[in-house]
Amino acid sequence: MKRIIIQFGGTGDLALKKLYPAYEHLMDLGFEFTVLALGRRFKDRAEFLKTMVSPKASQEFKSHLQYMHYDMADPEAIGPLRSHIQAIIGEAEQAELIYYMALQPSLYEEAIHQIQEVDSLISCQCILDKKIVVEKPFGFDLESSLRYNEILLQAFSDKEIYRIDHYLGKEFMQNLLILRFHNDIIRSIWDNRSIESIQIIFDETHGVDQRLGFYEQIGVVRDTIQNHIMQIITYLTMNEPATLSPEDIAIEKVKVLRSIAPVSEFHTGRYESLGANSGRIVHTPTYAALKLAVNTYYFADVPIYIRTGKMQEKAKSLIYIKFRNTTGKVMHDETIVENGVIITIHPELTIDISMNLKEPNTSWKSKPVRFRFNQAETFGANTPEAYEQIIKKILQGDKSLFPTMREITEAWRIVAPMLEPEHPMEVYPVRTLPRFANELAQENGFTWFD
Ligand code: BG6
Repeated sequence: MKRIIIQFGGTGDLALKKLYPAYEHLMDLGFEFTVLALGRRFKDRAEFLKTMVSPKASQEFKSHLQYMHYDMADPEAIGPLRSHIQAIIGEAEQAELIYYMALQPSLYEEAIHQIQEVDSLISCQCILDKKIVVEKPFGFDLESSLRYNEILLQAFSDKEIYRIDHYLGKEFMQNLLILRFHNDIIRSIWDNRSIESIQIIFDETHGVDQRLGFYEQIGVVRDTIQNHIMQIITYLTMNEPATLSPEDIAIEKVKVLRSIAPVSEFHTGRYESLGANSGRIVHTPTYAALKLAVNTYYFADVPIYIRTGKMQEKAKSLIYIKFRNTTGKVMHDETIVENGVIITIHPELTIDISMNLKEPNTSWKSKPVRFRFNQAETFGANTPEAYEQIIKKILQGDKSLFPTMREITEAWRIVAPMLEPEHPMEVYPVRTLPRFANELAQENGFTWFD
């Protein structure tokens, strides 16, 4: 079987940093496929390889990586693309074409049309299968996501469409389900009777100036909240699925998303120097803080506080589940602090359970302590990269790590108010937390888990 990944956006940041390393590693593991990278940036393969591929990359990978200068604006470009694909298929008896769109959403519509056209021109005396992979964000808002989907469905069945959210390929995400559903002691405390609130913190140190062309049209809401954060919320709060099959998980995720009202309490900001490298002031949000609620029987009344964005002092990704502190009140003892589960993704993958235990040499005085699981210490430092997991699933035709269209549209509905242009945007100095993050905490009477 000849498998070909036709990489739209083949000279972009995502391809360079995530996709090519993942392809290389998968080839080293024995997966067989050819990549045809498309882009405008380099005139030929030699130039492409010089910038896009490490000199240390394996020979196996390089020999299966082809490049074609492709300008989507050029109506004549489709002919040569078709011939190139046809040449790779050659005399194969069975082939699979995987069109991978790593583009900005504003180019989707055109790209989908071109893919449909190329696809309809390919002919071979072989069994020919196809798939299409669409990067996040899937669309620009609810309306455009529905439109793209409709166009996609004219040439592909839903089974052939893979909508990406690479967070679903992350070990910590999959572990959330195992932690929740494979542990009796956790399952019985994971609801609004025991949980007081949830915090999701995703602070990143890097800025977006290097990929401003993409980011300035996207902003933090489309970049991470509509997708990664919403997916995390579903994994944290969904009911137990009948099985861990993709269909059963999707049913439960959709129930969670449908119970969430459009966000009404939120703030956004942009870092001060955004766009300075290109001598422009860019009004795109790079940070947001918000509150929302999952209005299901088991999670109603548990506020979920989220803060996420760029150019922060420390890289910090964690989820904090704060439990009610009934014991402290009943025992009239302020040294008894609430229990908590802390899932840390950065800088290390750990899960902590905070408890109270007796402090030695005291008379019944308790002290908060942590029970820690450290992924690398327990399982070794070989946790697979998210993109590698995701691409492996695409090659295998397994849709378990991909959000469904229903999830995507519900997520757009939830974040819609945040996409409206008429709300104030704070300008925050780089390496500082925007003021509104602490204001949100004050107004709601909680403290960020810093
Ligand atoms: C990407 C966003 O989807 O996720 C980036 O476009 C963000 O802005 C990144 O930095 C975070 O992913 P990870 O895997 O580095 O946690």
